Amino acid sequence: MQTNKPRLKAVESLVPKGARLLDIGADHGLLPLRLLARGDIYSAYLTDVNKGPLAACQHRALVDFPHLMDYIGFAISDGFKEVDPRFYDFVTICGMGGELIARIIEEGGEKAHRSMALQPMSHAEKLRAFLWTHGFTIKEELYPREGHRSYVVMLVKYTGRGTRFTATDTYLGKKRPKTEEYWFYVKGLAKTVKKRLDGETLAGNKRNANTLKRVLTAIESLGYLE
Ligand SMILES: C[S@@+](CC[C@H](N)C(=O)[O-])C[C@H]1O[C@@H](n2cnc3c(N)ncnc32)[C@H](O)[C@@H]1O
Repeated sequence: MQTNKPRLKAVESLVPKGARLLDIGADHGLLPLRLLARGDIYSAYLTDVNKGPLAACQHRALVDFPHLMDYIGFAISDGFKEVDPRFYDFVTICGMGGELIARIIEEGGEKAHRSMALQPMSHAEKLRAFLWTHGFTIKEELYPREGHRSYVVMLVKYTGRGTRFTATDTYLGKKRPKTEEYWFYVKGLAKTVKKRLDGETLAGNKRNANTLKRVLTAIESLGYLE
């Protein structure tokens, strides 16, 4: 089973050893099944809103890991809706838009009050803002790179306390490590922010444009872009 992609490997690295893992939006199931097969986690609970991918995972698991079937659970579920909270202590939600991940967590209520590894494909800034206003702390961020694309993976813990933040924090995160991966991430981010700024300026949305200008200035002041 191959999960050599840096994106999934980065998520794997944040899952605690021995976790009872819930993977929401499991799709191909590579992440939880590989962790289980390696003995890194105690159990894997695979869920997806779609039946097809889950049935394929179930078949693959039966063929490849018949001895582990007692430690693998499946549920067709929109986010946490059909999930049984007794069966997990750590959650992964990866490969979806940041707004969808935020919606899933918000609708999950107490079922989502666990430690999680989150990997948004877009709008990480909206996800960070959501997390900080809904009692989650971002403990760590990783910035895996695949070819020309850079991703962010967040290790998140529920504390019940809000965190103060600025618009710049939502785009850049609060950690801003001086690493090559982060530099590459910020370069991609600068392009996205510039494009959005052009759009907001054209549309005459002064307030949004001013916010994006501040974010861009903050990105430039990091000195990573030359
Ligand atoms: C692009 S795949 C990502 C698969 C895997 N998590 C990864 O990161 O490689 C997104 C998966 O999320 C599932 N999905 C989308 N919305 C969902 C929701 N509300 N609840 C559960 N799964 C959802 C889709 O059916 C799809 O299988």
